[in-house]
Formats: sequence, C-alpha cells, structure tokens
Amino acid sequence: MSQPGKRAVPNDLTVGQMARRAGVAVSTLHYYEAEGLIQSWRTPANHRRYDRRELRRVAVIRVAQSLGIPLAQVRELLDRLPKGAAVRKQDWADVSALWRDEIDQRLALLNRLRDQLDHCMGCGCLSLENCPLYNQGDALGRQGPGPQRWLPGQRDAPEKEA
Ligand code: FES
Repeated sequence: MSQPGKRAVPNDLTVGQMARRAGVAVSTLHYYEAEGLIQSWRTPANHRRYDRRELRRVAVIRVAQSLGIPLAQVRELLDRLPKGAAVRKQDWADVSALWRDEIDQRLALLNRLRDQLDHCMGCGCLSLENCPLYNQGDALGRQGPGPQRWLPGQRDAPEKEA
C-alpha cells in the first residue's frame, strides 16, 4: 500500500533498485504490494519508492515460497509485524518456529507418499481398490459401489429439505 505524502528519504529505493536488490521482477513487487505484503510510497512526481526495510519482508516472502508456505499464511504473519518496521531477527525466529511444524507435517506426508510410491513403481494399475496413492484410505469404498453418503437410509446422508 502506498503512503502518499511521505517525506523523501535518500536511501529509499526505486522499484527497479528494489527488484535488483531483492532478486525479483518488478511485476513481482507490484504483486506483493497489491496483496498487501509490502508497501511503497509515492514521490510528488508520483514515482514509487520503497523503504529499504521492505527488502527483509521480500526475503521472508521468498523463503516462505521456497518452502511451499501459501501467501495467505505469509500475509497473516507479516500482518503481525508493525507496518514500515524492519523484520527483526527475533521476528524471523518466531515466524520460522511457527512454520517448522507445518514443514514437519509436509515432510511426513511426503515420506508416506514416497513409501507408497515404492509400492506403485512399475505397477501402473491405479486401481481404486488397491492403489494407495490413487485412492488413499477409501473407507466408503468398503461399503460398496456408488455414492454411499447419498443413498437413502445411509448414515451421514444429507437431510431432505421440506
Ligand atoms: S499403481 Fe498399482 S498399486 Fe498403485
């Protein structure tokens, strides 16, 4: 979000300088800004400027993306930090601790999938009954064919409207 009327600071960065320093495309900065992840301000000539502290926010976003953390979660975390303030070492430590659990869960899931893939290697059946990757934990499939939750008299069937 822009901050119209902010006093010019010589160390503030143009969008091109910011993009080069952050290692991202200008369009990426515009996208992050539109998503409320970073902010800029405008000069009297309507040129976009970034406080160089925004570089740390871009670094956090890039690291999160490399870890597969959705932007919505990144925004949630960046929103906890004061706007316009630098991301401090302790902020980053707190954020990375929160993401650690999620990354551990993803790793566990990927390990399970890898182990199941070993079972499927060279098979190619993609069987609904037997393939653990294609139809994981198909509890309803054991009750028979068809839309089990929609059959009359079945548990969990949606109630009919009057
Ligand atoms: S492809 Fe045959 S069991 Fe998965």
